[in-house]
Amino acid sequence: MTNTVNIKVGRNELCPCGSGKKYKKCCEGSKKPIPVNLENHYRKKYGIDLKKEKDIDGIREAGKLVVETHKLVEDFIRPGMSTDEINTFVHDYTIKHGAIPAPLNYKGYPKSVCVSVNDVICHGIPGDLIINEGDIVNIDITSILNGYYADSNQTLFIGTPGDDAKKIVQVARDCFRAGMSMVVPGNTIGDIGWAIQTHAEKSGCSVVREFIGHGIGIDFHEAPQVPHFGKRGSGVPLVPGMVFTVEPMINLGGNRLYILDDEWTAVTADGSLSAQFEETIVVTEDGYESLTPMDI
Ligand code: MF3
Ligand code: CO
Ligand code: CO
Repeated sequence: MTNTVNIKVGRNELCPCGSGKKYKKCCEGSKKPIPVNLENHYRKKYGIDLKKEKDIDGIREAGKLVVETHKLVEDFIRPGMSTDEINTFVHDYTIKHGAIPAPLNYKGYPKSVCVSVNDVICHGIPGDLIINEGDIVNIDITSILNGYYADSNQTLFIGTPGDDAKKIVQVARDCFRAGMSMVVPGNTIGDIGWAIQTHAEKSGCSVVREFIGHGIGIDFHEAPQVPHFGKRGSGVPLVPGMVFTVEPMINLGGNRLYILDDEWTAVTADGSLSAQFEETIVVTEDGYESLTPMDI
């Protein structure tokens, strides 16, 4: 792909035109737009693998299965159920459709889905914990279909939510939307985090720093990293073909956390509620397309 969008290049870096010369010795002074081989440039400079149409099709198919699984979990989840029952359901449904649950055995993770209840921020391991009326439950599903990964999560109310539950889920949803509204070529990864952080803090909530969005598609976690906080205009410029997640974790209280002895479960240090929404998206010429469209 050759393109002439604005990209950041250091004077001593290789010229993005692909000449093999330094930028300062090549196109720096040129008045004409630089013909950029974006695929090579993004791979070399950022380690980002821009996806081709065929790959995007594959991720979209995996995404359809993830979204379908979410809808079924939404119908299936009940107070009195253990989080392990959600795991069994997601595991069986994924396998039945010829896919693999990506979390299972990922860096030693023992289950097929993450189920994070109330003050659990993320990576809750399904087990004997009973889901109760009034809880908020974040279900994070990642499936591998024909070698392609798609990842998305949503936070569900169990029965009637209290005021705190309503507030944190609404703020997390609005943060997610604020982040997504920045996804257009010409903006940067930092603009996404800036929009999320601004909305969270304006609402009296906080943004988790330790876990971030990520490139995805051929692998579970690829470049770039997508922080949910940061400065306007910082980081990698967005270009078509970038596939990554946006997945802000927002706490009702402070953003400090600790990890339980199981080495996975991340919990708010102050015991406050935490909520999260996530989609896998691809940057397009004029914005983005969600590959896990979830009605968030
Ligand atoms: N789905 C999570 C994410 O959004 C990652 C979970 S890793 C696991 O990146 F091992 F806990 F499954
Ligand atoms: Co993710
Ligand atoms: Co996820």
